[in-house]
Formats: sequence, C-alpha cells, structure tokens
Amino acid sequence: MARVVITGANRGIGLALTRQLVDRGDEVIAACRTPSEELEATDAHVHPGLDVTDIDSISRLASDLGEAPVDMLINNAGRLSNQSLGEMDAAAVAEMKQQFEVNSLGPVLVSQAVSEKMGQGGRIGIVTSRMGSIEDNTSGGSYGYRMSKAAVNIAGVSLAHDLKPRGIAVALLHPGFVRTEMTGMRGHVEPEEAATGLLERLDALDLSNTGHFWHANGERLPW
Ligand SMILES: NC(=O)c1ccc[n+]([C@@H]2O[C@H](COP(=O)([O-])OP(=O)(O)OC[C@H]3O[C@@H](n4cnc5c(N)ncnc54)[C@H](OP(=O)(O)O)[C@@H]3O)[C@@H](O)[C@H]2O)c1
Repeated sequence: MARVVITGANRGIGLALTRQLVDRGDEVIAACRTPSEELEATDAHVHPGLDVTDIDSISRLASDLGEAPVDMLINNAGRLSNQSLGEMDAAAVAEMKQQFEVNSLGPVLVSQAVSEKMGQGGRIGIVTSRMGSIEDNTSGGSYGYRMSKAAVNIAGVSLAHDLKPRGIAVALLHPGFVRTEMTGMRGHVEPEEAATGLLERLDALDLSNTGHFWHANGERLPW
C-alpha cells in the first residue's frame, strides 16, 4: 500500500486518480480547495483548503501529512484559459499570471514541501500538457496556458536533477485530451482512461527514466 498525495482532487482527472488509487488499496490524501460530494464519497483522506498559489496553505498540507512517509505526489491542479494575439488586455495579462501561479509555481512549491516527506523510491508526477511542448506547437495561441506548461516542464527537469541524489524520481505527464470541465467536456478520452494511463506511467517511474515527458498512453513526447 502506497501513501499518495494528489492536488486538485475534487473533480476531473484528480477525482478519477483518487478513485483508482483508493480502489487499489492505496492511502490517498486528496487535497483540493473545496471538496466535492463525489470526493467526499470516496475513502480518501480529504484535505480541504489547498490553494497551490498560497504558500501558507501548502505548508499546512505538509504539516497535516505528519511524520509518515509519502510514496507518491501527483501535482494535478491546473488552470486553462485562452489568450489570443491582438486581444491581450490587462484582464488577459492578469489571467496569464494566474495560470503561471497555478500551473508553474504551484507544482514546484508543492513538490518542494511534499518531497521533504519522501525517502528513497519516492515518485512525483506533474500533470503538464503537450500544449507546453515547443516542438509540438503547430497552431499558436493559448499564450498563458502554453507558457505556463512550458515553464513547469523545465522546472520538472530541474526537480528531477535536484531530487535524484535523494532517490526521488519525477515525471512530466500529459493526460491526453480529456473530457473535463477544463475542456468544456470535449476531448478524446474520459478522465478514468486518462487516470489509468497516468498511473501506469507513475508505476513505471524510477531513477532510470526520471525527468522524462510522457503521454499517458506511454508515448515519449518532445520538449
Ligand atoms: N483535460 C484535458 O484535456 C487536459 C489536457 C492536458 C493537461 N491537462 C491538465 O490536467 C490537470 C487536471 O485538469 P482537468 O482536465 O481535470 O481539469 P478540471 O476538471 O478543470 O480540474 C482542475 C482542477 O485543478 C484545481 N485547481 C485550479 N486552480 C487551483 C488552485 N489555485 N489551487 C488548487 N487547485 C486548483 C481545480 O479545483 P477547483 O475546483 O477548486 O477549481 C480542479 O480540481 C491540469 O493540470 C490540466 O492542465 C488536462
């Protein structure tokens, strides 16, 4: 049985990850800003009040974890909105900064705090997006989201280097195009299928493949 921490666990992919980990017998600390009825209905330990842009709430999560070691952290919380060239006004800039806080800084700060609870063999997943891949950007636009996911990709590689001496491995993971609130319920796969693939990648994560960028379906993605 592994002890797993998930952010953004109240809905979408985070909720599907929580359910699958609970079903296989893992101890899940399901962190979110506000718990949902669906999350409360699981056997996860729900940790409310985690806003990944609020460093004090990240500290509270770390202290709530106590002394028992954490085996895996899944940085899943994320934010998406679209900004287009020619339409970036002050409101759009504020929204772009917010995406950077949630998608880029959030996983770094949560990983910094929770990795302190990890020993050799610890695993950290960062749910990023192929929208943050420079090579894969064939259509432009989505400035805030693309920039924030590209930023977290390079941060994830730094985390992989910095945590390797402590025996902790890090994966950058794209879940696929998933039917959640984030995509207006459009997409190619359901959250359950994405969660299954993400957990397969995390189960296969170790120091030999730390710092890599994977699609949930097992494909290596270009930076
Ligand atoms: N769906 C896709 O096709 C797709 C594709 C590529 C990558 N992703 C990534 O997959 C992850 C999960 O997305 P999803 O599709 O499941 O989206 P979602 O249904 O919109 O869920 C987003 C989650 O992030 C949480 N969140 C947002 N801002 C937060 C903050 N400041 N602090 C803490 N939690 C926060 C939300 O909590 P609240 O309910 O409190 O807002 C929610 O739990 C994200 O990182 C996303 O970028 C998704």
